[in-house]
Amino acid sequence: MGEYHIRGMNPLRGKISPGGSKNAVLPILAAAVLNGGKSVIFGCPDISDTHIALKILRALGCKADFNDGVITVDSEDLKCTTVPQEYIKKMRSSIIFMGSLLGRAGAAVVSHPGGCDLGERAIDYHIKALLKMGAVIREDAGILHCRADGLTGQHIIFDTPSVGATENVMLAAVLAKGETVVTNAAREPEIVDLQNFLLGMGAKVAGAGTERIVINGVTKLRDTQHTVIPDRIVAGTFLTAAAITGGEITLTNVVPEHIYPIYTRLAEAGCTVKEEEDRIHLRAPKRLVSIDSLTTLPHPGFPTDMHQPFTSMLSIAKGSCIIKETLFDARNKHIPELRRMGAEILTLSSCSSYIVRGVKTLSGATVEAKDLRGGAALILAGLAAHGKTVVKESHHIERGYERIEQSLASLGADIELKPSESEEITQPS
Ligand code: EPU
Repeated sequence: MGEYHIRGMNPLRGKISPGGSKNAVLPILAAAVLNGGKSVIFGCPDISDTHIALKILRALGCKADFNDGVITVDSEDLKCTTVPQEYIKKMRSSIIFMGSLLGRAGAAVVSHPGGCDLGERAIDYHIKALLKMGAVIREDAGILHCRADGLTGQHIIFDTPSVGATENVMLAAVLAKGETVVTNAAREPEIVDLQNFLLGMGAKVAGAGTERIVINGVTKLRDTQHTVIPDRIVAGTFLTAAAITGGEITLTNVVPEHIYPIYTRLAEAGCTVKEEEDRIHLRAPKRLVSIDSLTTLPHPGFPTDMHQPFTSMLSIAKGSCIIKETLFDARNKHIPELRRMGAEILTLSSCSSYIVRGVKTLSGATVEAKDLRGGAALILAGLAAHGKTVVKESHHIERGYERIEQSLASLGADIELKPSESEEITQPS
């Protein structure tokens, strides 16, 4: 367990690339079970969630190696269809193995998934859709025992777009009999990346990136290679870090279109933003100005994953902003921590909406990361604060940011990852 030690007030400057996307690589690794062969995946992020997905694959009997950003999976020998609970509890995406295991082997044993505690994170859409496709699911003490004697294509209509449920249905449908149509599908770039990976192994999928995805089941798939898309949330975090410190950075190897909902809001806050083919340049003003309101929405709206880093940024912008989080009801654990650093944030009755009134400066404090993006938000606040900030519980941040302290230090930040105090005390002298 570690903690970040940060001395703030250094404007970030330089060039940086965000690396491969966490939320793209995780469903792709679940999909690698389907072809019963080799998948070589380039540009994978070296984060703890990737390592958990690899452990799941190995527990299922697959061979899985990770070297220098390249993951090779061989899923020929699938020996088991139980996803070990210890991993599923750690990572939300483990639930996506339900669709791929049912599709490939007609069986899956999973439990309610873990991941960041953002409030109620139901899996009813996943279960309803798979039941409709012919799965039989028995729940026993939180464990879901799923069987299917051949899934069949169906018309699945989601009440609201769900990233995970869309991915699970896509994976279940690839080897199902007939046509599956997903209506009100999630449109996130990670869904398009999953479609591209599946197309590479010979699946028949179309429509990802729109609200209607059509999958025609096939009987055989082949070996494949794929490069994961750049991480739009890591990219957005770096841009926001430059904005909050009054810096100037260039992001390289990004897809500007994926980051559009983020950088347009940074421009509203007074940053000068220029996009080119695969890069974005941002120059921050002396003092940021607040934006009237920020409401999180499914893609292409403003991403929920960015609202916490934006809370830090808006807490030192001139003026006030109403933030409304519409996807998760408890994505607010960063707020008490930011208040410890001097932020003025008023929670409204729903707990998912709050008013951030910008103060001139934040002060360094010892704070605790409670989830991944909230942890990143605290690091950003530390970069802009006077004095020293310690962000505890680095493991939350390590789930989704590859050595964030090194990335930020390369841009001029004074930040170090140290073992947490209790660990230091127990080290033999
Ligand atoms: N929902 C249901 N029932 C379901 C599924 C979802 O009611 O069966 C609701 C959720 O409660 C939520 C909304 O639908 O209100 C959207 O949830 P979604 O299923 O889209 O989220 P997810 O698949 O659990 C993924 C990302 C999250 C990201 C959300 C929204 C991965 C591994 N996780 O979660 O990423 O916030 O989509 O974009 O892809 C993160 O990276 O920090 C993170 C939390």
